[in-house]
Amino acid sequence: MSDIVWHQHSIDKQSRAEQKGQNPILLWFTGLSGSGKSTLAGALERALFDAGFHTYLLDGDNVRHGLCKDLGFSLDDRDENLRRVGEVAKLMVDAGLVVLSAFISPTREERERVRALFEDGQFIEVHVSTPIEVCEARDPKGLYSKARAGEIKDFTGISAPYEVPTAAELTIDTSKGDLTNQVRALLDYLAAIQVID
Ligand code: PPS
Repeated sequence: MSDIVWHQHSIDKQSRAEQKGQNPILLWFTGLSGSGKSTLAGALERALFDAGFHTYLLDGDNVRHGLCKDLGFSLDDRDENLRRVGEVAKLMVDAGLVVLSAFISPTREERERVRALFEDGQFIEVHVSTPIEVCEARDPKGLYSKARAGEIKDFTGISAPYEVPTAAELTIDTSKGDLTNQVRALLDYLAAIQVID
């Protein structure tokens, strides 16, 4: 590593962001399986995209088909999954994009490690706090019943931990209210921190 030197190219993050006319940022959605992370992040991305922002949504299930297809759900593998995703998101923010991510990201340490990659104010943690009883009742992929039956090990919330965020910028429980209002709350927050007008 000591033989590798950082090369500062002439076009920097600031210039890319100015050319795009937007403030690059990472919105990090964390929560249990079935909590509504992907739905919420997808609906917010749609609203931002339709308003003319250049966005990208990194989604746990999708990333695990490619970049992280070699990883499982042990704590070490989840750490590596989120390390890779954090670095990819950092490159995307560097490219000037408004990035959204939807990963369970079960431990505070993992989330803080990703936050530390970004400038102050550029990492926005959104805790999708839908209670586990609701997530389990939804069970959109049938994974909770498999986990209860012992067919999936290390399942978050059942046989693997989820550490509730203590300092998330936003908390949204998708079992309360509707998607339109939840997206409105996110847009209001982005307006308050001047990411959007
Ligand atoms: S993590 O913990 O952040 O690395 O997880 P993530 O990359 O977001 O992947 C979560 C999706 O993988 C499916 N799945 C599991 N989740 C939790 N625990 C176990 N053991 C597991 N096995 C498979 C599940 O569909 C998760 O998707 P979401 O969208 O969260 O329901």
